[in-house]
Amino acid sequence: NNMFASQVGEEHGFTPEDIEELEEELQTAHEAIREAKEEGELGFMELPETQKDVARRIKESAAEKRKEFDNFVVLGIGGSALGAKALRTAFTHSYKQEVPRLFVSDNVDPANFKELLEALDLEKTVFNVISKSGGTAETMSQFLIARDLVAKELGIDKVAEHFIATTSKDSGKLIEIAQREGIETFYIPENVGGRFSVLTPVGLLPAAFCGIDIEELLAGAEYMDRICAVDDVWKNPAYLNATLQYLADQDGKNISVMMPYVDKLKDVADWYRQLWAESLGKEKDRDGKVVNVGPTPVKALGTTDQHSQVQLYMAGPYDKVITFLTVDAYGAEVEIPQEYSDIEEVSYLGGHILNDLITTEQTATELALTKNQRLNTTITLPEVNEFTVGQLFYMFELQTAFAGELYGINAFNQPGVELGKNYTYGILGRQGYEERKEEYEAKAPK
Ligand code: PA5
Repeated sequence: NNMFASQVGEEHGFTPEDIEELEEELQTAHEAIREAKEEGELGFMELPETQKDVARRIKESAAEKRKEFDNFVVLGIGGSALGAKALRTAFTHSYKQEVPRLFVSDNVDPANFKELLEALDLEKTVFNVISKSGGTAETMSQFLIARDLVAKELGIDKVAEHFIATTSKDSGKLIEIAQREGIETFYIPENVGGRFSVLTPVGLLPAAFCGIDIEELLAGAEYMDRICAVDDVWKNPAYLNATLQYLADQDGKNISVMMPYVDKLKDVADWYRQLWAESLGKEKDRDGKVVNVGPTPVKALGTTDQHSQVQLYMAGPYDKVITFLTVDAYGAEVEIPQEYSDIEEVSYLGGHILNDLITTEQTATELALTKNQRLNTTITLPEVNEFTVGQLFYMFELQTAFAGELYGINAFNQPGVELGKNYTYGILGRQGYEERKEEYEAKAPK
């Protein structure tokens, strides 16, 4: 962990004493997490246990669906999409478009959505509409379009077969629609927010359709939950990471870069970007004044972004902390052939493997950053598998919850996102949002 002054130099690191000084806050944060867990407010912490039975049903359903369908299309956005994307990137082939195929449509760019619908063999496609609130404009629009297409092309009686809904059991309108249509339904527990829902049917069902071992994902999360059960920040990776990130932010390093040196983890970085941003970017009250807090997460990919971003990380403002994600084993070894012995500038590469190259590049970047007093930390997985990725998800979720306590904000709401949603509803004429429409009309350029 190159965040300590002894590694990066006096000006820009922390000392163990800096952490000791926070002891009271850390203890308070720990107590708050324990209490909230006991009160049933931290649903994500219950998932390794509660989703075990759900996972069995998901596996059965996914196996049935795979017999009939080649394509599984997620219609969802934000927390209802990014987990499935991260899992697809981590565990399916990066280039071969083999069945079963998973598509995640998390935008409403008309050209893109049209291309997707045109590319699908509808007979062989099942759509999973995912929305906890059951009302998000993007997702529900996509659902209406896809449902209409299926009804027209295959017949209205086929809608139930070609759709699955993942939503809240007790609120929102998607559940009502699913029941009316006879669509198979999976539930998102009420106490689990969108961006914390990857280990519910939101992420598990699309993953199971692709043959990803969802029980191992849950087992990894459960294992990490045990590791993180201690209040000692030095022994609890989620707490320690949250504390260091918090200290860095307080010290002006308010940009948190997540930089995997593993292509398979690049969308875990994207998932994390949402988790960190939407959870911690908040307004809070300090002595009657509104204060705005929240580090800015950025994703990068090694080695690709060494040739794009790293110059800035190395020599730009001292406003960043970089988290590297690496693996001990890549799952493949690719040799670099020995050629051109007379051209030293190229021949030195021969005889090495790409694994040496990428790990050396990561170590070299880490060293160079540290030499330049740039805070960085490295998380190393033995390899990318369901167990380790389950651990990673859980650790980052707990890290976020703990950071929320340190910042003194509610990490589980998203009033900013809701405000944007409400304007959209109002402007497009949804009942109950007339005030938002009036506000918009008063402000809109004539
Ligand atoms: O984390 C969150 O709560 C959000 O990103 C939501 O997941 C996103 O806005 C989609 O919401 P919903 O699942 O209700 O359609």
